[in-house]
Amino acid sequence: MTRIPVKACVFDAYGTLFDFASAAAGCRDVLGDKTAAVTTLWRDKQLQYTWLRSMQGLHVDFWQVTGDALDYTLDTLGIAEPALRQRLMSLYLKLLTFPEVPGVLRKLKADGYATAILSNGSPHMLTSAVESAGLGDLLDHVISVEEVGVFKPAGKVYQRCIDLLGVPASSIAFQSSNSWDAWAASAFGMRVFWCNRYGQRPERLPGQPDAELRSLAELPGLITRG
Ligand code: LAC
Repeated sequence: MTRIPVKACVFDAYGTLFDFASAAAGCRDVLGDKTAAVTTLWRDKQLQYTWLRSMQGLHVDFWQVTGDALDYTLDTLGIAEPALRQRLMSLYLKLLTFPEVPGVLRKLKADGYATAILSNGSPHMLTSAVESAGLGDLLDHVISVEEVGVFKPAGKVYQRCIDLLGVPASSIAFQSSNSWDAWAASAFGMRVFWCNRYGQRPERLPGQPDAELRSLAELPGLITRG
């Protein structure tokens, strides 16, 4: 494949840079064989609430949504351990990164690309995750949807990123493991590398990622400074 010329590399946060499964995994001592179910339902409900609230025009930040989704999840799965909610929420501020992430960001910076996060996460959540992972020096911008007050995949979110970076959409390489996010960024005109960590099938939505990756480690070899 011919390398795609871009100026900036923009990453989704949760599921792409940060492993949201590491929160429940950190409470396996309590959750036991419900660990995977908590991860899946918590994430599904969290995303549903972002879409529903965006449609309703009743925005609250991602911290609130994440807590509400966790309450729904623990209630549904019949888990009523004291202190567990607080423990899971604290772990959400210190999620593990996927193993290739620091090396890839370092390489992209060395190659002269601007780097950024564009995420539903609230500024506080993103700052905590970035600091905890030691990625602060490797990211030029950490952009939260709170700047526009609506969640992905609203067009305003991708537009905010374009405006802040000051480059055309077609000069941005956007990476997300969330297929719906990847398709939406593509429909918005960004070049998109779908990091399909979860083995999802292609979406039937507007947009078409430029490439599908198994890991972000493939990215530096697929782009060139445009
Ligand atoms: C984010 C969610 C979609 O970081 O993973 O924006």
